[in-house]
Amino acid sequence: MSEQAISSKRAILIGNSDGIGLALSRALLERGWSVLGISRSASKLESEGYQHRVIDVRDDAFPVAVAEALHGRAVRLVVYCAGIGEQFSPDALSQDVATFETNLMGLVRTTEQVLPQFLAQRAGALVGLSSMADAMRTAVAPAYGASKAGVSHYLESLGRALKGTDVSVMNVRLGFVDTKMAKSSFKPWLLKPEEAAERILRGALSTNPPRRLNVPRRMAVLTGLARALAT
Ligand SMILES: NC(=O)c1ccc[n+]([C@@H]2O[C@H](COP(=O)([O-])OP(=O)(O)OC[C@H]3O[C@@H](n4cnc5c(N)ncnc54)[C@H](OP(=O)(O)O)[C@@H]3O)[C@@H](O)[C@H]2O)c1
Repeated sequence: MSEQAISSKRAILIGNSDGIGLALSRALLERGWSVLGISRSASKLESEGYQHRVIDVRDDAFPVAVAEALHGRAVRLVVYCAGIGEQFSPDALSQDVATFETNLMGLVRTTEQVLPQFLAQRAGALVGLSSMADAMRTAVAPAYGASKAGVSHYLESLGRALKGTDVSVMNVRLGFVDTKMAKSSFKPWLLKPEEAAERILRGALSTNPPRRLNVPRRMAVLTGLARALAT
């Protein structure tokens, strides 16, 4: 493993102008990391260790921005946080296209840029924020659940494909976190973004990150039961 990459405290966070990505960025900066954020909105963060690029992950310029962010830096951690979710409407199916492009294809495009560098430097942790909605079949937001099923499937399979390398891939399956994304009126075990960020970093920065991290774990039990009863 490359010593430079192992000791590096450099991270790229995608989709971090708000919510969990913002909380993760703050937590990393507090730990002395350098963070480069890429998001569709400007950042509230003002810190010596922080740089920000305003780019939509659906834009053709996005993979170029990720490649530039990686270039010449021994980046050790990349977290893909970008996500959207809207209620289904047959009059607004373009929202479903945007949901897949943002939640799933943005992650795939990120991986295309990040993985070759991680493998070349023989170190790196790729983390994606998925959802426990990956297991649910709902009429409320089919594109959201299906895109997150794709995210979970992709990340956990990638983790298997990279077994034996020095690169880790972690799929974070979130329950409810108190951000603008959590629109449901029923939100059991709602976490603050800061609490979710701490749990994610504990897993991602451990010596052996799990391929799947359920946050919180008891919500995964509940969604597992709900799915079993629904089928
Ligand atoms: N909150 C929950 O209960 C919950 C539960 C399960 C999973 N998750 C997942 O956790 C992740 C983070 O969600 P959150 O709760 O922190 O939501 P959030 O507060 O809405 O944050 C999402 C972030 O992604 C950015 N973003 C959205 N679309 C983008 C695009 N096309 N290009 C670039 N950046 C984009 C947003 O930018 P703007 O600031 O411009 O909106 C924002 O910074 C998402 O993937 C979400 O699906 C959240």
